[in-house]
Amino acid sequence: MLHAVIMAGGSGTRFWPASRTLRPKQLLSLHGDRTMLQSTVDRLGDLVPASRQMIVTNKILVDAIAEQLPALPAKNIVGEPCKRDTAPCVGLAAALVYHEDNDAIMVVMPSDHVIASEQAFQQAITAGEALIKQDPTRIVTYGIRPTYAAESFGYVQRGDAIESPGASAFAVEQFREKPDAETAQRYLDAGSFYWNSGIFLWRASTILEALQKNEPEMYAHIAAIAERIGKDDYAETLEHEFAAIQGKSIDYAVMEQYPNVVVIEAEFPWDDVGSWQALTRLHSPDADGNTVVGSHVGIDTQGCIVHTHEGHTVVTIDVDDLIVVQTPDATLVAPKHAEERVREVAKALRERG
Ligand code: GDD
Ligand code: MG
Repeated sequence: MLHAVIMAGGSGTRFWPASRTLRPKQLLSLHGDRTMLQSTVDRLGDLVPASRQMIVTNKILVDAIAEQLPALPAKNIVGEPCKRDTAPCVGLAAALVYHEDNDAIMVVMPSDHVIASEQAFQQAITAGEALIKQDPTRIVTYGIRPTYAAESFGYVQRGDAIESPGASAFAVEQFREKPDAETAQRYLDAGSFYWNSGIFLWRASTILEALQKNEPEMYAHIAAIAERIGKDDYAETLEHEFAAIQGKSIDYAVMEQYPNVVVIEAEFPWDDVGSWQALTRLHSPDADGNTVVGSHVGIDTQGCIVHTHEGHTVVTIDVDDLIVVQTPDATLVAPKHAEERVREVAKALRERG
């Protein structure tokens, strides 16, 4: 049966000050009324019932997530004792899903994207499921046509076409996580590469075997946790075994090495809402080219991104290309070209104490 696992333990440091330790990006609504996590769950539609949906996150976010997803059974929100990146997250989820259903196929989704068509998304997942039923050791990824030489994504090179009703699917030649600028440009020019969307489909048993092969130490900790599922000392075991794992992303741990990967070209519009400039793609600009969420008066102001807290107005005079984000207790002002440096804020504030 199909199970859904949503990874929601990221920190979203480039969205300060809206994004905080206890309210990271995936718990914010940067696009519409629903938060990014709620939209990720909505996207599943009738594909997977709430009983087979699992959110994996840091334990400090469990209560906030339960509040956002009242229909989800409490046991389906899994709290990690510490942040170890996505490979341990996937390993833990696969162990839990496998415990319940040995034949489970899992769709693993990040919670930091905007996907415009739920229907196209669901069709793509159904097509992927059929490909896995055909060959149970397959891993399916979803590829996005790249528009620039991004260094912040994984790249998937397509090879031979694979017959797949309702989807364009290809055998994967290679998977390369976050290449440097020069390599990314080469991939873009080659025309045969997709960005990895970060959405994966596999049998729980397949990904557990792949982790066992590639990351035996990590797997040993996951196996020790899996052995205690449903037992009195489960929580205690999770706490110390998970903490003993070395952090790594699933892209480096498995995807770059796995020999049987299929990429489905995503027919759904996809946006990695990575930093404040993403708002310019999610909202139409005003007449002066400013992107405004909230209340802004611009006098001789062009190309700015302004995000205000309810009940507040930001006024700018004679400025261009600024990011201004105002929340009840903190405000960010930065030129657009420095947006990547917003990730430095969390560290700077920690150091200040
Ligand atoms: N539970 C849990 N625990 N979730 C995590 C953790 C963790 O330690 N770390 C990250 N996540 C969640 C994030 O909240 C996000 O939803 C998802 O896992 C992916 O993590 P990111 O940290 O955002 O990864 P990335 O954006 O750098 O790279 C991945 O996504 C790209 C597409 O956006 C990779 O899969 C790339 O190959 C891909 O192109
Ligand atoms: Mg991301």
